[in-house]
Amino acid sequence: DGESLDGALLAGRRVVVTAGGTREPLDPVRYLGNRSSGKQGVALARAALAAGAEVTLVGANLQVEAPAGVDLVTVETSEQLRGAVLSATTDADVVIMAAAVADFRPRSLAAHKIKKSEDGTDPVIELTRTPDILAEISAHRARPGQVIVGFAAETGDDTHTPLEFARAKLARKGCDALVLNEVTDGAVFGQDSTAVHVVTPDGQVAEATGSKDDVAVFLVRTIAGIAASTVG
Ligand code: CTP
Ligand code: CA
Repeated sequence: DGESLDGALLAGRRVVVTAGGTREPLDPVRYLGNRSSGKQGVALARAALAAGAEVTLVGANLQVEAPAGVDLVTVETSEQLRGAVLSATTDADVVIMAAAVADFRPRSLAAHKIKKSEDGTDPVIELTRTPDILAEISAHRARPGQVIVGFAAETGDDTHTPLEFARAKLARKGCDALVLNEVTDGAVFGQDSTAVHVVTPDGQVAEATGSKDDVAVFLVRTIAGIAASTVG
């Protein structure tokens, strides 16, 4: 078990956390999804509660139980997640976008189950971009001083480190902090322990490793620090 949190740290603050992974319907029985379990987001919701916050958890297909005491909003698709986030963030002090949001969805939802064709031709699924919720809420803050935190799982490539990608993403999204999960050594999905870097627009990088609960406590402290230094 990790370190404890000061129960007054976020007292009176409204925190919205998104967790899990969206599913984009293809036909009545199929969807495009991802492997996010929701563990990190749920751990963050639990840590924010322990810090005294009023917490709304927007859960997309959670594979772990939501903590007692959160206001749980259940969604399935990225469009539903967007609606829930826009409505929950109107009076939020802090928004933490830990959910894995689909980047693409099938362009159309088939009214009937897609069947194998008689002539053996393979179907082609056309995809279209989903709205970028994090960029949208960062560009149009529901209230001044609202602290918005994004997540990114990155591998590096031949010319860029994961941290460089994270810095570029932070700037592109316009949020106040980006939590980087490095996935170079294998997937973090569904695992209990994790390693993160938190990058902020001032160029600072904070680092933490441990269980997802330990990391959540660290992130809530870091986010509370940002909230305290932001004029609201
Ligand atoms: N996100 C979002 N809406 C989307 C996609 C992502 O709000 N349609 C949020 C995620 O919840 C996360 C952050 O944006 O907090 C970064 O997600 P990520 O997938 O790393 O960023 P993308 O801009 O989708 O870039 P990439 O092409 O690397 O997937
Ligand atoms: Ca993405």
